[in-house]
Amino acid sequence: MRRRIVAGNWKMNGSKDLVQQLVGDIREQVAGFDERVKRALDVIIVPPALYVDSVVSQGGSELATGIQNVGQWQSGAYTGEVSSDMARDMGCQYVLVGHSERRQLFGESDDVVAQKIKCVLDSGLTAVLCVGETLEEREAGEAERVVAGQIQQGLADVSAGQWSRVVVAYEPVWAIGTGKTATAEDAQAMHAEIRGVLEQMNAPSEDVSILYGGSVKADNAAALFAEPDIDGGLIGGASLKAEEFVSICRSFPVDA
Ligand code: 13P
Repeated sequence: MRRRIVAGNWKMNGSKDLVQQLVGDIREQVAGFDERVKRALDVIIVPPALYVDSVVSQGGSELATGIQNVGQWQSGAYTGEVSSDMARDMGCQYVLVGHSERRQLFGESDDVVAQKIKCVLDSGLTAVLCVGETLEEREAGEAERVVAGQIQQGLADVSAGQWSRVVVAYEPVWAIGTGKTATAEDAQAMHAEIRGVLEQMNAPSEDVSILYGGSVKADNAAALFAEPDIDGGLIGGASLKAEEFVSICRSFPVDA
């Protein structure tokens, strides 16, 4: 069974005070959700690595915690890096891997992404593989090919028993932080493609949650989440405001 997921990627934003306030507010409101909604939904906070510990303790049982990046090794002489074993040790359950900002600003290749996915899964955590095309690639009619390649390479070494800990997040690069969202129809079309690619890789594609990310807000989340292959969202800017984020969490179809 695939899960509904709303994950807030804070990127390089936040402070001790913000963790206190925002996580406290979100937790309180999520605690008040209907039991049925709570059972089907995972709400994940993904702060900068330094704040993981406080988010884990502030989030309680209502919220899960993720980390935005890990190194492609588990320990050793890699100054500045943190590993997925350390993330697990601190109480993280999820790791974002291959976010487009990491690919574009830090030169992360599909090969490095695959190594990180392996580390995350070997640590027993859930990997959220981020994929997405640039505007140039979309306009050249290459979007499907690019996204399929990122999935095939990033998830090449996932073993049969590990698929239940794989989530895919489709984040078209042109929609991130720009206010331009893919239409629900375009996002659905890509999510269906992604499920097809997973199927070809012998993954239990119907059980893998596929999230949409890129300028998701309270006023467009419901249309996106109503699509059959969109299982939730990876939220950037709107995850830094409690009301907005919680209202996104409430945007799933009631009876589905
Ligand atoms: P925005 O929601 O700010 O567009 O960011 C999306 C994103 O990159 C989440 O990982």
